[in-house]
Amino acid sequence: MRKLLVEGGNPLKGTVRISGAKNSVLKLMAASLLGTGKFEIGDVPAIKDVYTMIGVLESLGVKAKLIDSKLTLEVGELTGVTPTDLVQEMRASIQVMGPLLARLGWVRITKPGGCAIGDRPIDLHLKNLRKLGADIQEEHGFITARAKRLVGCEIVLDFPSVGATENIMMAATLAEGTTVIHNAAREPEIVDAQNFLNQMGAKIFGAGSNSITIHGVDSLGNTNYRVIPDRIEAGSFLIAGAITQGKLTVENVIPQHLVHLIDKLKENGFELEVAANSITITGRNKFYPANILTLPYPGFATDLQPQYLTLTCLAQGSSLIRETVYSRRFGHVEELRRMGANIEVDGNAALVRGVKELSGTSVRASDLRAGAALVIAGLAANGQSEITGVEHIERGYEKLVDKLQAVGGRIRWEEWTSHFLKENEK
Ligand code: UD1
Repeated sequence: MRKLLVEGGNPLKGTVRISGAKNSVLKLMAASLLGTGKFEIGDVPAIKDVYTMIGVLESLGVKAKLIDSKLTLEVGELTGVTPTDLVQEMRASIQVMGPLLARLGWVRITKPGGCAIGDRPIDLHLKNLRKLGADIQEEHGFITARAKRLVGCEIVLDFPSVGATENIMMAATLAEGTTVIHNAAREPEIVDAQNFLNQMGAKIFGAGSNSITIHGVDSLGNTNYRVIPDRIEAGSFLIAGAITQGKLTVENVIPQHLVHLIDKLKENGFELEVAANSITITGRNKFYPANILTLPYPGFATDLQPQYLTLTCLAQGSSLIRETVYSRRFGHVEELRRMGANIEVDGNAALVRGVKELSGTSVRASDLRAGAALVIAGLAANGQSEITGVEHIERGYEKLVDKLQAVGGRIRWEEWTSHFLKENEK
C-alpha cells in the first residue's frame, strides 16, 4: 500500500509545467473509435485514468501505445462489447457508448454506478441517444443499444451535462442529417473534442456556446492532435502556491479557461500575473475570505471546489462555499476538520470560518479532487500529514509528487505493508 507524507510550512517557489487535460484526452480517445487509421495525440498525461481508457480501447480492438506523452492509437475493426471491469472502474468509460453505437450500430455496456461525490446517473445520455433513434434496452445492469443508423434531430438537454453533450455530439457525427444540441455544456474540453472530431472529418459548429450543430457525415478518418492543458491541475497548483505563501508560476495553461478562479484569487487579495500561456501567483500570510458557487462552465468549476475550500480554511473571515453540481461533494470537509479547520455543512453549502493554522495529521482521500485538497492542506499545515486513499489522486495528477518536490514541496511516497497481511501470506 502507498501513502503520501507531507511536511507542511514550506512555500512553493518556481515553475510547474501543466500536463494535458485528463477530462479532454479521455474523450478524444473515445472519439477515435468513430474513425479508422492511425491517430497521434500529444501531451497525454501518464495517469491511471488514461491507462484505464487505453485498456477499454484495447479490449474493443484498438492498438495503443503511450510513450513520452505521445499516444498512438490504431483503429481498425472493432467490437461493441465493452469490458465490464474497466467501465466500472472509471465512469468516463461511458463516453465510448455514443461512438460505438454510431460506428457499429450497436454497443453493450455496463451501467456505471454512483460514486463518492454523487449519484451520477446517465439518464440524459440514454434519453437523447434514444431521440437520435437508438433502441436502448436495460437489463441486469447492462445497457444494449442498437440503431441501423442514427438520425439527426433537435435535442434540448435538461441540464448542460458535460458527458451527455460529448456522447451525443460524438454519436451525431455519423448520423443521417443534422443534430442541434440546445443547452449544451460549454466546457473547454467540449471545444477540444469538436476540434479533434472536425480534424477527423466531422462537421461540428458551436462548441463552447450553448448550442452545438452537428451535420452528419458518412465516415471519419484519423488525425494528429495535441490535447489542451489541464485547467484543474493548473488551478490546484495556483491554490497550492497561494496557501503556502510561495511564488509559483504555472506554464502551459490557457488563462481564459481559469478566469473564474483567477478572479476569486484576486478577491482573496493574492497578486496574479497573467501572461499568454502562464500564470504566476504570489501567496501571502493574510488574505480575505470569498464565497463561491459551483456551476457548469464558465461558472466556478466543481472540480476546484475542494481545493478552493481548503484555501478558505486559512482566510481572515468566513467564506460560503455552495456546491450545485454534485449532491455529495464535501468528502474532504471531515478530513479538513481533523486538521483543525472550522467548517459547518448544511446540505449543499459549507460555511468555512478561517482559522489561524491547520495542523498535520492522518487523513484519507475519498475521491480525486478531495485528495488534491488534502495534499494542499498538508503543504500548508503545521507538522506532518499522512494521506491515504492515494489511488484516487493517481487517477488524475501526473507526477504530482515530482512536480511539487521540484518547487520546494516536502512531500514523498511511502510504501507500507500490513504486518498482519504479511504474516498471513506466509
Ligand atoms: C465531467 C468531468 C468531471 C466534472 C464534471 C462537471 C470528465 C471525465 N469528468 O463529468 O470531472 O466534475 O464534468 O464539470 O470529464 N447528470 C445527470 N444525468 C446525466 C448526466 C449527468 O443527472 O445523464 C448530473 C450528474 O449526476 C452531476 C451533473 O449532472 O450531478 C454534472 O454531470 P456531468 O456534467 O455529466 O459530469 P461528467 O461528464 O460525468
